[in-house]
Amino acid sequence: MKNPIPIAVTGAAGQINYSLLFRLSAGELLGPDQPIILRLLEIPAAMGNLQGVVMELRDCAFPLLHDIVITDDPKVAFIDVEYAFLIGAKPRGPGMLRSDLLEQNAEIFAVQGQAINAVASRQVKVLVTGNPSNTNALIAINNAPDLPSHCFAAMTMLDHTRALSQLAEKTGYNPQDIYRVCIWGNHSCSQYPDLRHVRFTQALSIEHFDADWNLNVFIPTVQYRGTEIIKTRGQSSAASAANAALLHMKTWIEGTRDHDWVSMAVLSDGSYGIDEGLVFSFPVQVVGGQFQIVQGIAIDEFSREYLDRNQAELREERQAIKHLL
Ligand code: NAD
Ligand code: LMR
Repeated sequence: MKNPIPIAVTGAAGQINYSLLFRLSAGELLGPDQPIILRLLEIPAAMGNLQGVVMELRDCAFPLLHDIVITDDPKVAFIDVEYAFLIGAKPRGPGMLRSDLLEQNAEIFAVQGQAINAVASRQVKVLVTGNPSNTNALIAINNAPDLPSHCFAAMTMLDHTRALSQLAEKTGYNPQDIYRVCIWGNHSCSQYPDLRHVRFTQALSIEHFDADWNLNVFIPTVQYRGTEIIKTRGQSSAASAANAALLHMKTWIEGTRDHDWVSMAVLSDGSYGIDEGLVFSFPVQVVGGQFQIVQGIAIDEFSREYLDRNQAELREERQAIKHLL
């Protein structure tokens, strides 16, 4: 039996984790022969609910779930962890923008960034899901000065799979036969789902999509999907978000497919004219556990407008939390 690997998950009593924790424990992240230890962080008020989730996890008798640690202390939760899912944060309700959450959630990511900096593995991979996720990731990065920024990413994988799903529905192809979709920018309604470089394993090419469908159906459907879920379900996306978190981390560990890329929000290095020091979603390729922003993609005038709008929005978010950086 291999040594168990610790995985930290925050917001462990929340909706997303009611799916994610069970999938992690079933071996979906690290494979069928890798035991894990779940290190679960919650606020004191949610400890009772978390105890119930732990009872259910134990009732599944997962062979790979070696141990569960629960705590309300970030400096305990993140000890030696190789993987950290930062999910615990307030979700938005109907009529709210994700940026409306900034004031309430920002502090969480300063505290957790500092704790990760102090006690996590030096190779830790930290995925920020709590909204507004790009700027929360920026806060965490700035509060973890001893760790390289490439230990952190924010989640636009759900937008990515939403885009794949729209294309699959339109073409009749299986989502896995679709390559090179990407999400640029902020995990907000301004994001730019970009189908200009999409490739299919079969004969269909991007010329089959007219500009009208792109502008009036594809882009807004992906941009507003989170809002529509809240309107329809009464609560923000949970199982699909858990799926995306799992897929993001798995891709970060195992790498992207040949000739494909995925979307991750990472600290900009100035690529595509985006300010260094903003966490921006780019197409990335992952090799050997490291992501690289895909270079050389042509940005036409139509796309530039979207990129600029996202940059302006992220600059504003950064300004609002500059005291935490
Ligand atoms: P939820 O309210 O069901 O659960 C959040 C949990 O976090 C709660 O149990 C709460 O007690 C806990 N929490 C709050 N502060 C904490 C702290 N300081 N430390 C540890 N735990 C803390 O919410 P949810 O539906 O699970 O969503 C969680 C977050 O993920 C929200 O901000 C939501 O908007 C965001 N989200 C992001 C994406 C994305 O694609 N990036 C997708 C879906 C949801
Ligand atoms: C989503 O995209 O579903 C999440 O970010 C939740 C939300 O507030 O839309």
